[in-house]
Amino acid sequence: MTTILVTGAAGFIGANFVYYLLKNRPNLRVVGFDALTYAGNLETLADAMQSPNFRFVRGDITDAAAVAQVFSEEAIDAVVNFAAESHVDRSIEDPQIFLKTNILGVQVLLDACRANGNVRYHQVSTDEVYGDLPLDRPDLFFTEETPIHTSSPYSASKAAADLLVLAYFRTFGVPVTISRCSNNYGPYHFPEKLIPLMIANALEDKPLPVYGDGLNVRDWLYVEDHCKAILAILEKGRLGEVYNVGGHNERTNLEVVKTVLRLLGKGEESITYVRDRPGHDRRYAIDPTKIRSELGWFPETTFEAGMEKTVQWYLANRPWWEHIRSGEYQAYYEKMYGNR
Ligand code: NAD
Ligand code: TYD
Repeated sequence: MTTILVTGAAGFIGANFVYYLLKNRPNLRVVGFDALTYAGNLETLADAMQSPNFRFVRGDITDAAAVAQVFSEEAIDAVVNFAAESHVDRSIEDPQIFLKTNILGVQVLLDACRANGNVRYHQVSTDEVYGDLPLDRPDLFFTEETPIHTSSPYSASKAAADLLVLAYFRTFGVPVTISRCSNNYGPYHFPEKLIPLMIANALEDKPLPVYGDGLNVRDWLYVEDHCKAILAILEKGRLGEVYNVGGHNERTNLEVVKTVLRLLGKGEESITYVRDRPGHDRRYAIDPTKIRSELGWFPETTFEAGMEKTVQWYLANRPWWEHIRSGEYQAYYEKMYGNR
């Protein structure tokens, strides 16, 4: 492989993956492609822009002409697709854009792969396609065989995309893989998601809004571990296969919020219980046996070490999240939390 197209490169995980590639595969050319929606941020890619191995193209994955253009300009060997609408709460407010970007966008990318001689394609998916697990059955985990059983418009759109990706493998022979990852955290995480929102609110001495009883469980993965897993799948994964990525870092939301407060040296009086999310998934938990046994991947960063690094990053990069929170995001925050 010499050139990789990273779609959604200006978002949280896409940007981390760009940096991971530039550092660990210095001979690769990396083309970042992103529509720069509210979640895309070119400031995040400022350092990558300095690298001769990186090029940024602004474009929408649902725009077949824009996608064809980048394929005609670059000799693309593989596509790694991070581009998506990614926030569950937004999908409950307005599902349509989720169907457009997350499903039709994937169809456009897959068609471009076909049209260019069956280019290698990796779809970055989510454990949310499996629905949720009950809190009183800690013995249960998602495997790749767990039936698809989605809860939100977001997870339904990601599941539809996964099925489409596998259909293009079976019907057209496009060389695909899919990773289904648990909740990520780390640098450049958009501050509408739990961990960065809590860090930013705590630093600004604002209330920390915990949905429902705060006992929902997520399986947290440090973003760099996710990037490492995707590269392993891209380079060594079996075509047509799904790999679950995550593993045994389960925490309740309350535990996560209290960890943030402890690391910032703040008291817990700012925790505020707010109305629950409709259809709120109770527990996600990944069984990573397949990726560990086939590809030798395992999460290297413990939750404690990853949270320490993450909090330090948000302390050291205040302008990055302050710019985001001072703009359009303010109207979003008022809409979502104004009278919750
Ligand atoms: P994000 O919202 O931070 O970034 C998404 C990026 O996609 C943004 O830069 C945005 O501008 C871009 N984008 C949106 N619509 C686009 C379009 N039509 N054309 C081109 N670019 C577009 O999301 P993230 O957290 O980095 O997630 C990346 C991928 O990983 C998503 O597919 C998501 O479903 C998946 N995922 C995320 C997590 C997580 O915890 N964040 C966990 C598992 C899977
Ligand atoms: P989120 O970061 O939106 O990820 P996902 O819904 O994809 O897992 O939320 C993580 C958990 O945190 C989820 O159970 C919802 C909860 N949550 C809150 O309690 N308060 C908040 O303000 C947010 C954004 C999330």
